[in-house]
Order: sequence, then structure tokens, then C-alpha cells
Amino acid sequence: MIELQNVAKTYQISQENLVNAVRGVTTTIDPGEFVVITGRSGSGKTTLLNLAAGLTKPTSGKVILDGVDLWGLSDSRQSALRGKSLGFIFQFPSLLPALTTLDNVRLPVTFRSAEGARDNDGTDRAAALLKSVGLSDKAKAYPRQLSAGQQQRVVIARALMNDPKVLLADEPTSNLDEQTEREIMELFREIHTERQLTVVMVTHTTQLISYGTRAIEMANGQIINGRN
Ligand SMILES: Nc1ncnc2c1ncn2[C@@H]1O[C@H](COP(=O)(O)OP(=O)(O)OP(=O)(O)O)[C@@H](O)[C@H]1O
Ligand SMILES: [Mg+2]
Repeated sequence: MIELQNVAKTYQISQENLVNAVRGVTTTIDPGEFVVITGRSGSGKTTLLNLAAGLTKPTSGKVILDGVDLWGLSDSRQSALRGKSLGFIFQFPSLLPALTTLDNVRLPVTFRSAEGARDNDGTDRAAALLKSVGLSDKAKAYPRQLSAGQQQRVVIARALMNDPKVLLADEPTSNLDEQTEREIMELFREIHTERQLTVVMVTHTTQLISYGTRAIEMANGQIINGRN
């Protein structure tokens, strides 16, 4: 489903200062897997996830999504493929404060309509997703009126809006207390089993590895533990 072939990412900070954030990673994420990526701060987890998501262009190597070389496509075909197949949850909160919960969940469809891909404004689906994350009663609330855990559930609902095959999540529970973290992880488990979604999740909490079907540990831009 997602194949990383000897993928590397080097950031140039200044003329003589390079950071090898990811160094030659090869791995395949198969349908139905729940991959948990751990590692110390700065080990390259976010960079690897963004490479797998096609959000970051590799310095070398290939990213193959559904058999297609992602960076061999034109911009528009690449974003169409990404939009169809992948849902993202970023490390930093990303709800738009001026939009209601419902409109935040609808956002991916709003973008697609702008491209003329779809007329349906997605309201029904957004409402159904809000219900599935237990937030029916908050459809008209604004993000600031929600707790951190509720906001994260809205983010998860939004990531499911385009019915992706793979959900990529970067530290989705990092700002939550333990109880709420468990609730969010149960929600991921449910999404993984009931919607049969492939999940790739980054976390620094090693206890969360037990939710996955496979663990990858990163250090220094490489996978040091876990199969390819
Ligand atoms: N846009 C960027 N420009 C320059 N260097 C970057 C950039 N993004 C990441 N890096 C560097 O690449 C390395 C890996 O960063 P990355 O964000 O992937 O780590 P991480 O494992 O996700 O860390 P954390 O657990 O703190 O989120 C770090 O040394 C970081 O400073
Ligand atoms: Mg990170």
C-alpha cells in the first residue's frame, strides 16, 4: 500500500549545515496494518511520516503509493491520489478556530468541491462522523469551546472525511491526560478494526505500541528495530 524504497531526507539549514533527518529507510506498510513508530525526539519520526504521506519530498529514494511512484506524478495528480487514499493527523493542533466543529470536519470536502471534484457539501457525512466519535452534541460548537480530547476527536473525524485507506497520525495523544489518551487510542482501535483502515501512528509513549500490529523504532533517522 505504501512502500518506502531507500528513502532519505536531508535538510539544508545553512550552506555548510545539513541535517540527515531520515537516512535510507526501506519499509512497506501493508493494508490492515496498525504501525506504531516510536523513537526519541529528533530521531526522524515526523519526517518519516511526512515522507510516507507524500507531504515531504524525499532527497533520494522512492515513495510508492498503491503501486504508483508518488513523486513521478504531476502536482495535481499527486494531490488527487493523496486526497483519495490518505488521511492525516498532524503533530500540532490544526482545527480552524473560526469554523464550527461540523465545518472543520467538512473541510476536506470543501477543498475538493473547490476543485470541482464533488458537489455534495458533505454535511451529512460530517455529522455522521461526529456522531461516530461521540460528539453529535458539539456540531455547532467552536474549537475553543471543546476540551483537548474533544478537539482531537474532531481532528480524527476530519481525517476520515474523505474515506481514506490509510490514516497517518503524528503524536495524536501527546497533549492529553492518560484517561483521554486511552479513549482516543480505543477510537483508533475501533477505526482500525471496524473501518478496516490501515493506521500509521507516531508516538513517544512506548506503552501505546500494544495498540498496534507492528512497531518501528527510530534512532538517528533510521529504523533500528522492527521488520521492513
Ligand atoms: N523543516 C526542517 N528544516 C530543518 N531541519 C528539520 C526540519 N524538520 C525537521 N528537521 C530536523 O530533522 C530531524 C528530525 O526531525 P523530526 O521532526 O522528524 O523528529 P521527531 O522524531 O518527529 O521529533 P519529535 O519527537 O520531537 O517530534 C531533527 O534533527 C530536526 O531538527
Ligand atoms: Mg515529531
